[in-house]
Amino acid sequence: MELKMSNLTKEFRDMTAVKNVSYTMTTGVYGLLGVNGAGKTTLMRMLCTLLKPTGGSITWDGEDIFEMDGKYRKILGYLPQDFGYYPDFTVYDYLMYIASIKGVRPAAARQRIKLLLDQVGMKKAAKRKMKKLSGGMKRRIGIAQAMLGDPKILILDEPTAGLDPNERIRFRNLISELAGERLVLLSTHIVSDIEYIANEILLMQGGEIKASGTAEELLSAMPEEVWSLEVEKKEIERYMRNYKVSNVKTIPGGAVLRLIASEKPSSRAVREEATLEDLFLDYFGERAGENDDEI
Ligand SMILES: Nc1ncnc2c1ncn2[C@@H]1O[C@H](COP(=O)(O)OP(=O)(O)O)[C@@H](O)[C@H]1O
Ligand SMILES: [Mg+2]
Repeated sequence: MELKMSNLTKEFRDMTAVKNVSYTMTTGVYGLLGVNGAGKTTLMRMLCTLLKPTGGSITWDGEDIFEMDGKYRKILGYLPQDFGYYPDFTVYDYLMYIASIKGVRPAAARQRIKLLLDQVGMKKAAKRKMKKLSGGMKRRIGIAQAMLGDPKILILDEPTAGLDPNERIRFRNLISELAGERLVLLSTHIVSDIEYIANEILLMQGGEIKASGTAEELLSAMPEEVWSLEVEKKEIERYMRNYKVSNVKTIPGGAVLRLIASEKPSSRAVREEATLEDLFLDYFGERAGENDDEI
């Protein structure tokens, strides 16, 4: 099982959304991390054969996925970022409908749907209308539809967008459970979504994979270092202006800053162990937010 991208590139009229990406994935959970506009969706849509690359190739066990066509899509499950559904369908009817599109026979579909609804914790909601489901429930049904064909490759584009913190945790657990012998690729702009479940993390910025590896590997190769420093109130602004500040903890008369810098920012600064949040800030120059306004 090997999904291989070689010099993968996608140019739109006046911009390059994905630039020369070369990366090979096998089984396991891969987390594609990047801010909005990084190129995550474009990359995933190419991996799902929904977009034709303008350069490079994608192969599955050595075969070009665009040539494999239907044979490739049979082993693929995809949850799009803007997952569409039919509001008046019940959960069960919706899944039966998707199964029929995918060519799963009704008897097999019924069995599979029963199993999946159980796995995603939605057994009791089978008769509910799609439009009556909460955001988290809809996403779980989104996962169930992607899992209908028991895919070897599962691609989930921002599966946690719009979920509250509790739903997020449940979701991470579900993805870990479903991973098994599959290749799972999920995208997010939220570090905590993949910190614990991704075996490998790909940092994407401006269409390129800037760094990749396990969390430990990425952290040990972090370009700069993390420092904590207690400063007086009047100094806060200067530090905020001159450094990447990953956290500000207010204390009487001042604050404890968490700074990212290649050199010790002050003789009083103390080295700290870097986290993935710090890494995100170091690469992307902005803090990883839990605030996702758009889905
Ligand atoms: N169909 C398109 N035509 C032109 N530009 C596009 C198209 N789709 C995406 N882009 C651009 O490509 C860049 C990457 O977008 P996208 O892949 O959606 O990033 P992400 O999913 O990381 O937010 C963005 O600048 C976006 O505006
Ligand atoms: Mg996207």
